[in-house]
Amino acid sequence: MDRFVIEGPTRLEGDLAVGGAKNAVLPLMAGALLSRGTSVIQNVPDLHDVRFFMTILEGLGARCSLVGGELRLDTREAEGREAAYDLVRKMRASIYVLGPLLAFQGEARVSLPGGCAWGPRPVNLHLEGLQALGAEIALDRGYIHARVPRGGLLGGRFRFEPVSVGATCNVLMAAVLARGETILENCAVEPEVTQLAVGLRDAGARIEGVGTPTLRVQGPVTIAPLRQTVIADRIEAGTFMAGVALAGGRVRLTGVDTVHVAPITAVLREMGCGITEAADELVIASEGRPVATEITTRPYPGFPTDMQAQVMAACAVADGTSFICEGIYADRFTHVAELQRLGAEIRVDGARATIFGVERLQGAPVMASDLRASAALVLAGVAAEGTTTVNRVYHIDRGYERIEDKLAGLGARIRRVSAR
Ligand code: EPZ
Repeated sequence: MDRFVIEGPTRLEGDLAVGGAKNAVLPLMAGALLSRGTSVIQNVPDLHDVRFFMTILEGLGARCSLVGGELRLDTREAEGREAAYDLVRKMRASIYVLGPLLAFQGEARVSLPGGCAWGPRPVNLHLEGLQALGAEIALDRGYIHARVPRGGLLGGRFRFEPVSVGATCNVLMAAVLARGETILENCAVEPEVTQLAVGLRDAGARIEGVGTPTLRVQGPVTIAPLRQTVIADRIEAGTFMAGVALAGGRVRLTGVDTVHVAPITAVLREMGCGITEAADELVIASEGRPVATEITTRPYPGFPTDMQAQVMAACAVADGTSFICEGIYADRFTHVAELQRLGAEIRVDGARATIFGVERLQGAPVMASDLRASAALVLAGVAAEGTTTVNRVYHIDRGYERIEDKLAGLGARIRRVSAR
């Protein structure tokens, strides 16, 4: 397994082009199963999770290619109906095929995804939402077995409680082929969910309320192959912004959507960063220690849970005591023990973490766990005094395209050591 070796401390200086959003690509890939033909998605980052989803679609009979950021998904012979455990267990987002397969093929067998690094991740809302459209769902030896009733899915009404990105995507993809009207309430309005709704609407779906918590869908319609250019990854942008807050320096991000990163910008400004914005560019600068802050993670447009670990790393060297409450995943703190190995002083009580800022972190060997926690450890290594080794970087490769090259391009002293 590859690892990163990082020599710190260094500042981050220079320009960085932000890539396409992983969490927008994955639902669009599933949406391609609602049509017969070749969907073309542009600005796609070459990530392990994208390559993995291509494998899942190929297992269903689709033909996929990703060349130069252009993803082509030919579903003309995609007759498969089953996503097997040995695939689904490796990536939760595999469950996105459930709604489209059920709606388009009439039946789907998808393995229940396992938990993840920070604990159980239920899928009840995916199942209850599909049942609201008439789906017959049985759990059978670790598999979700879903069938449509005679005559196909029927429009219905469903409210997501709590807000769920994945369940909103899955149920929306099924609803576009259901007969009659579907009303979905308390939907996620993350930009990635909105891009899926736009992509489906551009392909013929009849969806009102796109971008709002209430979606009204009329069906059935015929969905044409999707054509979309993926939005910028607000979490990749935020990760590098948090890196500047933590290590100091000045970075110009290009190709960023400043509206989508606004919740992150607000927090980093509170932490003392100077941030200027223009069109699709953002410049962030920071000198000295950040200022302590207090955040609670919430669904968009609140502060994103996918940025919690990265901002905690910045809080670790802040001047003062910071408080972070995980409002989405109460136990998403696998990065705490590893940050403590670097000298951070953090106390966790349930879903709340208290971070007592220290002058400087000290380099040490640490272990990557989930995607965002691992990114936080890499940022901490850039700012820490001495050598930090981050093991199991495949976690990072899932969601960041060659993060070491991007950081090195900004002055970090980081290299990938491939396992012999
Ligand atoms: C998506 O996961 C993202 N993944 C996650 O990003 C992100 O952390 C999460 O949304 C929250 O923003 C992708 O987009 C591929 P949820 P998802 O359903 O859809 C509860 C990353 O780093 N819930 O919005 O699985 C759940 O327990 C990943 O890129 C139910 O109770 O998250 C959580 O408390 C990590 N029942 C809350 O909803 C359900 O059926 C939000 O989860 C589903 C979810």
